[in-house]
Amino acid sequence: MRTIVINVLLFVTLASFAGADGKQVFETYCWGCHHQTAVAFGPPFTEIASKRSAEEIEAMITDPAGVSKLFGYKRNAMPPFKLTPEELKEITAYILSYKPKKKSH
Ligand code: HEC
Repeated sequence: MRTIVINVLLFVTLASFAGADGKQVFETYCWGCHHQTAVAFGPPFTEIASKRSAEEIEAMITDPAGVSKLFGYKRNAMPPFKLTPEELKEITAYILSYKPKKKSH
């Protein structure tokens, strides 16, 4: 009985580490410079989500030096990240989830 409980706990713990989660990617790589709604060193996710597409966000994360120039920044202070395709997808969806809702009237 005891081993079964321990096995179940182990399984649940491992399952929660497998698979990328946008919030986890954010906390691991981005949190030092970006906050969801407040300006930090970089712009907040609410601002990014209101003006960029998923493709633009993914391009910026993979090649900040090239893309920040296209975005009109005079200097590039964001380092490049090597994320797995899944992490890239998750963090992009996480950022876009902060897109301000359109007013209904
Ligand atoms: C060392 C600080 C730093 C870290 C860490 C960082 N960023 Fe940035 N980020 C910046 C800065 C500063 C800018 C403004 C452009 C520039 O200087 O290159 C920026 C710009 C961006 C932009 C484009 C903003 C726009 O105008 O649309 C996106 C998207 C972005 N960051 C996403 C991320 C994501 C996702 C992560 C984590 C994987 C991350 N950043 C980690 C500093 C950082």
